[in-house]
Amino acid sequence: MTETKKQEWNSNLAFMMAMIGSAVGLGNIWRFPNVLYSNGGGSFMIPYIVSLFLLGISFVLVEYAVGFRFKKSLARILFSVSKKLEPIAWFILLVVFLITTYYVCVVGWDLIYIFLSFTKAWGSNPDLYFTNSVLHSTDSISGIFTIVPTVLASVFAIWFLAWLILKRDLNEGIGKVSKILLPLLCIIVVVIVAFSLTLPGASVGYTQIFTPDWSALTNLDVWLAAFGQIVFSLSLGMAIAMTYASYLPEGSKLVDNAVLVAFSNSGFEVFNSIGIFSILGFMTLTSGIPFNELVTSGTGLAFVVFPQVFNIMGPAAYIIGPLFFLCILFAGITSVIALLEGVCYSISEKFLIDRKKTATVVCIIGFLISTLFATGIGSTILGIFDGFLNNFALLLAVLIECIIFGWIYKFDNLIETLNNNSTIKVGKTWKIVIKYILPICIGGLWIQGIYSTLTTADSLSTTIMIILTIVLIVVPIIFTKLPAINKDYYNV
Ligand code: PHE
Repeated sequence: MTETKKQEWNSNLAFMMAMIGSAVGLGNIWRFPNVLYSNGGGSFMIPYIVSLFLLGISFVLVEYAVGFRFKKSLARILFSVSKKLEPIAWFILLVVFLITTYYVCVVGWDLIYIFLSFTKAWGSNPDLYFTNSVLHSTDSISGIFTIVPTVLASVFAIWFLAWLILKRDLNEGIGKVSKILLPLLCIIVVVIVAFSLTLPGASVGYTQIFTPDWSALTNLDVWLAAFGQIVFSLSLGMAIAMTYASYLPEGSKLVDNAVLVAFSNSGFEVFNSIGIFSILGFMTLTSGIPFNELVTSGTGLAFVVFPQVFNIMGPAAYIIGPLFFLCILFAGITSVIALLEGVCYSISEKFLIDRKKTATVVCIIGFLISTLFATGIGSTILGIFDGFLNNFALLLAVLIECIIFGWIYKFDNLIETLNNNSTIKVGKTWKIVIKYILPICIGGLWIQGIYSTLTTADSLSTTIMIILTIVLIVVPIIFTKLPAINKDYYNV
């Protein structure tokens, strides 16, 4: 066998579920409420919806059209556009892979919390419990030599789960798992939101979402925040939509699909934030802690504030607690497999390694890198990886993709592909967005990201960022130079 077996979704539903599953992740659950709150509450919906339509859906469409037209992996697609572009593909894939290595770790922490939540094992001080008893966090660099066994075990469990899903045939693995986990996730969120609305003080929270601060609309940072949330939430630029769309059979309705996926993803985060805000409103009323001190994002919200809320919630917390952490687990798993699929596809297509073997190698290497985050200084390193890869490397990847497909590749081909396959048509406006508006907006976010990363960098983060930069240059060159085993790889 010289050609890797062509894979195809067996139903449009499987593709849709996998796409929505890839987009709905930790970002929807704990990033969105904070972004919404700190950028004007209700009025934030305006820049958010504008960014969703104008920029988010537009870019997803590029990825759909490219994947569907080429029906190849990212590395081979960029090689086909121009031989010189292959290292860029490996750069993007490496960024995605490195993001996955720490994303898995956060999902691992969540797995630990599912177990803790059955007994509220975090006690009366969840903050201290998280840093001392779960992470065994230290500030000293020597902490890198101490492994935290429970974190390592749960990180291993998540990598193992990802491997179990990825090694299977596309429809049996990713397709089936997405079709099961996504509906479950939706049911859990509906239960949590419905329950949260019955809590005393809920209205203190959710009215924040509907109370607009119109002056925020004239603030450029608010618009950039909206755009940043869309990039993160829809997982733009990570070659996920491109990979999944390349597995679509002829005749699939691309634009209709992209619109539905984007709406479901945003619908999920807006709906979910009603629950989060109501629960925080309850906390404000009961404990007197001001609302603005509770709306943190990321690990602080999930592993510190929520356990505090569960502490004062009474017996219902023994059900809502595990459900909340289960919800993060399901959202996380479907994103992890999506992040890895594109990486595996390129490797397997260039080096002609079958699906199972590629998944095994990628997951083992990924797990080894993730052990770094399971050390005493792991959460600090994780923060540095997150800041650098998200604010800097990922945005660069989106910018490069806009330039490649908007300027270097014949863009009209993409318009033709989309219009041949959809009821909703695209045209000139889309072209202007991809060629001009999107690169300008990403450029703005990028400069903002570099500024905030550099002004907050200490010596440890500078060292790690330098190492990451070197790795992000050297590894893609090596992958490009390695000769393809697949004879068809170089056929453009
Ligand atoms: N969009 C997903 C989320 O919101 C997946 C993602 C993972 C996005 C990592 C960016 C980085 O979590």
